Amino acid sequence: MASVLEFSDVVVRRNGRNIVDRLNWQVNDDERWVVLGPNGAGKTTLLQLADTFMHPTSGEASVLGETLGQTNVFELRPRIGFTSSALARRVPADETVLNVVMTAAYSVLGRWNEEYESMDVDRAREVLGDWALDHLADRLFGTLSDGERKRVLIARAIMTDPELLLLDEPSASLDLGSREVLLGLLSTFAKSPLTPAMVMVTHHVEEIPPGFTHVLLLRDGQAVKAGPIHDTLTRENLTETFGMPIALAEASGRYAARAY
Ligand SMILES: Nc1ncnc2c1ncn2[C@@H]1O[C@H](COP(=O)(O)OP(=O)(O)OP(=O)(O)O)[C@@H](O)[C@H]1O
Ligand SMILES: [Mg+2]
Repeated sequence: MASVLEFSDVVVRRNGRNIVDRLNWQVNDDERWVVLGPNGAGKTTLLQLADTFMHPTSGEASVLGETLGQTNVFELRPRIGFTSSALARRVPADETVLNVVMTAAYSVLGRWNEEYESMDVDRAREVLGDWALDHLADRLFGTLSDGERKRVLIARAIMTDPELLLLDEPSASLDLGSREVLLGLLSTFAKSPLTPAMVMVTHHVEEIPPGFTHVLLLRDGQAVKAGPIHDTLTRENLTETFGMPIALAEASGRYAARAY
């Protein structure tokens, strides 16, 4: 078991406010974390630290054993897979699905003059198959539904066999059916021993795929609680995180929450 993320007293300060506030957090390579918290809690900021696109204002953050500020982030980044809706907006609409996935091999978003080997094509087709997208390989990204786009970007993030996979709200804006399909795929992926460490940001406990093992509850940049999901995802902790009385139900590894 190796440590993939190690945050020690991490502060990110913007406009005189700590948007991440003295956070201590550790993620090991066999863990799949959910980061849950209200709008503005600092969830995306946390993923930007983990993705090495931001450094702490103070404190120490290590990613894959390398301390941010003391390492070459360009060597670290290919070892990390990332998806978000902000990334989806940057993908060229006229790129094929196969190319959107395959171009991850060069960390570029649109195909230009890079030379790909048959190994790259095979790998891209393999991940498209794993994420139930093989029938869309030749379609243009701009013609896909929201749910299909999100799956393509996850396939892209996995293309390079990352050691850490970061997902920022992968189920946001999906209809019930698309959300359930994505949750099923994420759950299968999370349960595989070959899968790397995962961190998934979400707003809703209903979007937690079975197989995720840990949860970080975040409010105002601070950890309300962090730990194994069974002990940490409780009505008391959700009530504190969202600042209102929350009732929580669990059935077959799926959760549901509402105010009461
Ligand atoms: N560059 C910045 N300058 C000033 N404030 C910022 C900056 N970046 C983020 N913030 C603020 O920091 C807080 C945390 O932002 P962040 O995007 O991490 O929240 P979040 O938990 O992902 O929210 P959401 O659920 O809405 O996506 C927000 O209040 C945001 O307005
Ligand atoms: Mg966010």
